[in-house]
Amino acid sequence: MKKPEHFLFYQTRKELPVIKKAEGIYMWDHNGREYIDGCSGAVISNIGYGSKRIQETIASQAQETFFAYRIHFENQPALNLAEKLAKASAPHLNRVFFVSGGSEAVESAMKICRQYFFNTGQGGRHLFISRRPSYHGCTLGALGITSYAPLEAPFKAIVNTHPKIPAPFCYRCAYDMTYPACNLKCAHALEQCILDNGPDNVAAFVAEPIGGASTGAVVPPEDYFSVIEGICRKYGIMLILDEVMTGFGRTGALFGYEHWQTKADIVALSKGMAAGYFPLGAAVTTEKIVNSILDSGGFAHGHTYAGNPMACAVGEEVLDIILENRLPENAAATGSHLKKGLEALKDTHEIIGDVRGRGLLLAIELVKNRETREPFRADGNANLALADAAFEKGLIIYPRKPLNGLAGDHLLVAPPLITTKAQADVILDRLDQALLQIRGRL
Ligand SMILES: Cc1ncc(COP(=O)(O)O)c(C=O)c1O
Repeated sequence: MKKPEHFLFYQTRKELPVIKKAEGIYMWDHNGREYIDGCSGAVISNIGYGSKRIQETIASQAQETFFAYRIHFENQPALNLAEKLAKASAPHLNRVFFVSGGSEAVESAMKICRQYFFNTGQGGRHLFISRRPSYHGCTLGALGITSYAPLEAPFKAIVNTHPKIPAPFCYRCAYDMTYPACNLKCAHALEQCILDNGPDNVAAFVAEPIGGASTGAVVPPEDYFSVIEGICRKYGIMLILDEVMTGFGRTGALFGYEHWQTKADIVALSKGMAAGYFPLGAAVTTEKIVNSILDSGGFAHGHTYAGNPMACAVGEEVLDIILENRLPENAAATGSHLKKGLEALKDTHEIIGDVRGRGLLLAIELVKNRETREPFRADGNANLALADAAFEKGLIIYPRKPLNGLAGDHLLVAPPLITTKAQADVILDRLDQALLQIRGRL
């Protein structure tokens, strides 16, 4: 197999095996080595790999057309998917704008929000408050509301950075407080941030319902989003939920907002929406917001691939597969089994400081000292050491640093939503072996 490294580049020079085949939760490289995808790629492969139904959908749509420009034609897959998505969403979220990925979905949500205010005599509203840490994408607009220092550093001079408040990260509380005695100081920080920046300047608050890669599956306290929603309503700002990672069953509900009946104004979607089979994303919002934008000249935004018939045909089939196979329910059941198993690993591995998450969006955080929660040395990269050891044992997991990307070590454990409890046990076994391999070496 010819390695393309001289022509192709991504983030680093790290040598990687070449993929040959993938099926279910398993992947095989060109040397015949087998891996379990314990993090669904980048938490995207919700229905697993190699779906025959998706292969047939793609073949059948390819017979009709790969492309029709949205300015010239409607296409049936886009119409169907928009309808199914609206019906599967909270009742007020019934207008869908298609894009091709998560960063585009987030930026489209920001622009829907901004244009609504621009068109309704509230043109001062231009700030999007988000959280530290958080990840909303790496294009320049999405990066402005992301907080993960290594990704921001080279681009500070060209990014419009928006205000941040602390994430509801109880294990590493920014205020050194404990829930519920803290009285949700991190949620009430939104109000102070709005006042500091001038309420008439703030357009929206943007948050992931359950933290993704940057915090490592941080689940907010039960009443967090009701406080947040109340503050948004009080100041007339929108609540934008970034469900790029949490959407499509990942956390044990079709959408993360269902856990707390949070009423978002706009929801950004991607990843599990086409589950890795095609680039696809969407911003979903309300009729009122869309009518206001369309009534005053139209949405000043759009991408060439938006509403692509191939992508939408795949998205429709993926949504059917998720709903017919009750994958959110499976994520909840397998997820609680896997989480219990991770907690059991904590009993035998002193370096696991925290186990967190919901459904099949789970994480472990590694610490040098469990009592004090002291992290390992930042340049020691304990998270990479464990991810590499797991990879060697045939398990892929997703390493990041929870202290704004600068320190701490966590790994996402987020296999496809089709994972059975027996397969979860194999994941736990391989993780146990990897933890044993790095024991004493950090
Ligand atoms: C919560 C969240 N938002 C946005 C994005 C950006 O998505 P993409 O990489 O498809 O641009 C990601 C990607 O990991 C994400 O997890």
